Amino acid sequence: MKKIIAFGASSSKNSINKVFASHAASLVDGSESIILDLNDFEMPIFSVDRQDEFGIPDLAFKFKNKIKSCNGIVISFAEHNSSYTAAFKNIFDWISRIEKDVWYNKPMLLLSTSDGKRGGRNVLKMAYSRISRGITHKIPIFSLPFFYENFKTNVGIIDSDLNLEFKKSLNLFQENLDLYGN
Ligand SMILES: Cc1cc2nc3c(=O)[nH]c(=O)nc-3n(C[C@H](O)[C@H](O)[C@H](O)COP(=O)(O)O)c2cc1C
Repeated sequence: MKKIIAFGASSSKNSINKVFASHAASLVDGSESIILDLNDFEMPIFSVDRQDEFGIPDLAFKFKNKIKSCNGIVISFAEHNSSYTAAFKNIFDWISRIEKDVWYNKPMLLLSTSDGKRGGRNVLKMAYSRISRGITHKIPIFSLPFFYENFKTNVGIIDSDLNLEFKKSLNLFQENLDLYGN
């Protein structure tokens, strides 16, 4: 059984990105998903001075260990002001101080969704550009616009064209997991 870590890069209690990431992870064959909630990893806002004074918080190590111990990662990004949510960026900043290798070259599926027509495309592009640096295989991405119109609980993506595109990304993630997800 492959272990998949999945989370919405959002701290909203009813995060649609958490729902979408969980859904995607549940479709991966031969795997169990572990769904993370970023609220469980809330830390002081990163600053180099804070790190010098107090060190790196235990929660950052806890998050990093979750990444280290899994076979693959599914993240769905919420977009705030064309960028990462503060909740995700803070965790990213802290874990990037533990060691240079943040994602351990794990197979990843990067997603985004929003209630609007762009589906969080800006943040997904930004995340792909940053995260793909140092990853040796192709990272699949997919952005779902108009979440409330295009997604139904227990069904998934109901628009057939969007679902086809999503499945292509999911299949590449599955292939990468089989090849590199040890
Ligand atoms: C402070 C804030 C800024 C936002 N900025 C954007 C934005 O730049 N682009 C966008 O498409 N949606 C933006 N949104 C809408 C969110 O993408 C939308 O609320 C989405 O549901 C968030 O996903 P979540 O439910 O997983 O948190 C913003 C929402 C908030 C609260």
